[in-house]
Amino acid sequence: MKTVRLADDKKGIATAADILRSDGIVAIPTETVYGLAASAFSNAAIKKVFEAKGRPQDNPLIVHISDIDMIDSVVDGFTDKARALAEEFWPGPLTLVLGKNEKIAESVSVGLDTVAVRMPSNEVARDVIRQAGIPLAAPSANLSGSPSPTSAQHVLCDLDGKIDAVILSDECSVGVESTVVSLACNPPRLLRPGKVTPEELKKHLPDLVIDKAVLSEPQKGEKVASPGMKYKHYSPKTQLFLVEAESDEYTKFVNKFKNALAICFSLDSDKIEIEKLCYGDQDDAEQQAKTIFALLRRADGMNCDKIFVHAPKKSGIGLAVYNRLIRAAAFRVTKPKHIVGLTGPTGAGKSTLKETAKRLGFDVIDCDVTARKATDIAECRRALAKAFGDDILDKQGNLIRQKLAQKAFCSPDKTELLNTVIFPYINALIEEEILLLESDKVLLDAPTLFEAGADRLCDRVCAVLANIEKRKERIISRDGLNETDALLRINAGKPDEYYKQKTQNIIYNDSDEKTFIRLFTEFINGGN
Ligand code: TXA
Ligand code: MG
Repeated sequence: MKTVRLADDKKGIATAADILRSDGIVAIPTETVYGLAASAFSNAAIKKVFEAKGRPQDNPLIVHISDIDMIDSVVDGFTDKARALAEEFWPGPLTLVLGKNEKIAESVSVGLDTVAVRMPSNEVARDVIRQAGIPLAAPSANLSGSPSPTSAQHVLCDLDGKIDAVILSDECSVGVESTVVSLACNPPRLLRPGKVTPEELKKHLPDLVIDKAVLSEPQKGEKVASPGMKYKHYSPKTQLFLVEAESDEYTKFVNKFKNALAICFSLDSDKIEIEKLCYGDQDDAEQQAKTIFALLRRADGMNCDKIFVHAPKKSGIGLAVYNRLIRAAAFRVTKPKHIVGLTGPTGAGKSTLKETAKRLGFDVIDCDVTARKATDIAECRRALAKAFGDDILDKQGNLIRQKLAQKAFCSPDKTELLNTVIFPYINALIEEEILLLESDKVLLDAPTLFEAGADRLCDRVCAVLANIEKRKERIISRDGLNETDALLRINAGKPDEYYKQKTQNIIYNDSDEKTFIRLFTEFINGGN
């Protein structure tokens, strides 16, 4: 299908109205986001909307009217409360859920006995509805799940060739979708926050409750008042994390990550050392609302692994911005973590300290385990085979670890080659693990912390050293090696000098275990 581009003038509006009257679908501007409009009286037209968007079948649509006389063809019983709200907020970004008039096509409300209705303030939108002479059902004009469209360009990115026409008009002035309030339940319920804030609504609806789904993830199987709120939504393709923190904490945390993008406030901007996009002042929620969806779309073109959005305040229209972002983040809200790196040569006693850190409330990432996980990644195995020869893989493409070890540990050059190939994969996995851990304190147990460059993730780093005799004894009893092999292993590692050059925090494990643990505890508790 060719999607016709229409101007937002008389002729364009008249053409759009004609298409809509004959059950076609047209993307129209509104003050919130672009909507994909269809006749609210026609199941056939509504079906096209669901298909073009790939919208889940259980998510009802909002009906748009141009003038108050149209309301009686949409709702069944326009209550006094509804009228008072309409008088104050219409035309504008407020949607009311009320009893449904039977004229409205069944598929608009996907079988519910209620209907959502609003009168947009955008003049082009209202002219289209007026000329079509019918109320128009219109969800946001994006592919389901992707960020809502705030410009005609966004609409075309998602839906070119899938819809009859688009009206090319200005960017949307509000930028987030309308506030949705249900008056069909008692007490009235805020289902989706938008520009019209709970504080404003409470003047008319003192008993208004805010639906749980506004700020938290609905549990599996839980019935939600507004079906749209249960989906992961508004998401760029890149993994997104919402970071709740003060500016300094936020910037310090995100700067640790490689290949990441910060979507930040103006006051963060100078402190950010990674790729960044600014979505306004921390106190200017209107600006944040206006820009956030466009930035989420832009973020996808920037080839980053992850996006860290500095979480907005939840007041005023900020609540709406937060509500969209928490969905874009699939409910991943992250607090900055204090990360301590623990390194040192084999046999020096790192495992004892790992246990100590756990007792002190640290989540521990064992980078040896992470390294094994890295070789489970097909792309990593292929890269290793390219470097060391196909015979390190069996017929199924699985890694033959022993073969790789033989080839990689036969000379320092080959070990270096192994590291060059595998470290990027290990680092990416470590970053992912850090972000998924619960605790705000993390210990990175990494024998090759410095070699891998993983020390950049750490706020503090310490190295454990011990004299060779003690290390030898430990390796023999721990790994069942003979003395010669234990010494070989020690000599294959880095000398103590290497660690001393890299960090001043050296913990010696030469006396009794109690002192060793005390020294580490003092270090780990000793600062930020
Ligand atoms: O600002 C807006 O509201 C935009 C523009 C185009 O007007 N439209 C929009 O539509 O955001 P959509 O489909 O993306 O979101 C409609 C929301 C969904 O969360 C849906 O579940 C809810 O409204 N909704 C619609 N009818 C409902 C009903 N009868 N009961 C409860 N929730 C309803
Ligand atoms: Mg939508």
